[in-house]
Amino acid sequence: MKETIIAPSVLAADFANLQRDVEMINNSAADWFHIDIMDGVFVPNISFGMPVLAAINKHAKKTIDVHLMIVDPDRYIDTFKALGADVLTVHYEACTHLHRSLQAIKAAGMKAGVAINPHTNVALLEDVINNIDLVCVMSVNPGFGGQSFIENTYKKVKQLKEIIVKNNASTLIEIDGGVTDKNAADLVKAGADVLVAGSFVFNAHNPIETIQNLKKITTF
Ligand code: DX5
Ligand code: ZN
Repeated sequence: MKETIIAPSVLAADFANLQRDVEMINNSAADWFHIDIMDGVFVPNISFGMPVLAAINKHAKKTIDVHLMIVDPDRYIDTFKALGADVLTVHYEACTHLHRSLQAIKAAGMKAGVAINPHTNVALLEDVINNIDLVCVMSVNPGFGGQSFIENTYKKVKQLKEIIVKNNASTLIEIDGGVTDKNAADLVKAGADVLVAGSFVFNAHNPIETIQNLKKITTF
């Protein structure tokens, strides 16, 4: 039986009730906290930064998965370790020396992730696949929650899975953007291991039940 990791994106939480929403995730079937850091340069939006992550980390009782949508992410690797990140994901498009960035993340004691924009071909990761703990396949253009899922993602997930298997790597595949109960099971069948869900969870009438249901329909 394969169990899928469900990672609610805190970007869609109510920041005026952040502790309440963090506790909701603690008490749910979710596995990870997905934390979106945007700098207004790499992506056309600014989300939140260090003080907010520190506040989340104070209450979070699950794995903290940080998705950096920032230029030159190497500057902040040690900072995010200190803020409680367990998985630190940088963008392929933001790293001139990706192999070096991955080594630095691991040396700091975190799992190393690479996110790829919808236009970036998964084959570009093949030469470093054994150095990557997680590939975050963006299924929307990064920068905003609540966008609709790009269907080409299925093809990318299948191609990426082939590369992982061929290289005998243990890399996890994460899908980020527009995940709902309509595409979750198909994404897992295509090869996904981790599903990020922001607005689908937090806009739901009952987020706890919504997470529980995502978990159920992605376990086979
Ligand atoms: C988008 C972020 C996502 C976002 C997902 O740039 O990386 O993690 O929060 O939100 P939904 O699930 O609403 O598409
Ligand atoms: Zn994200």
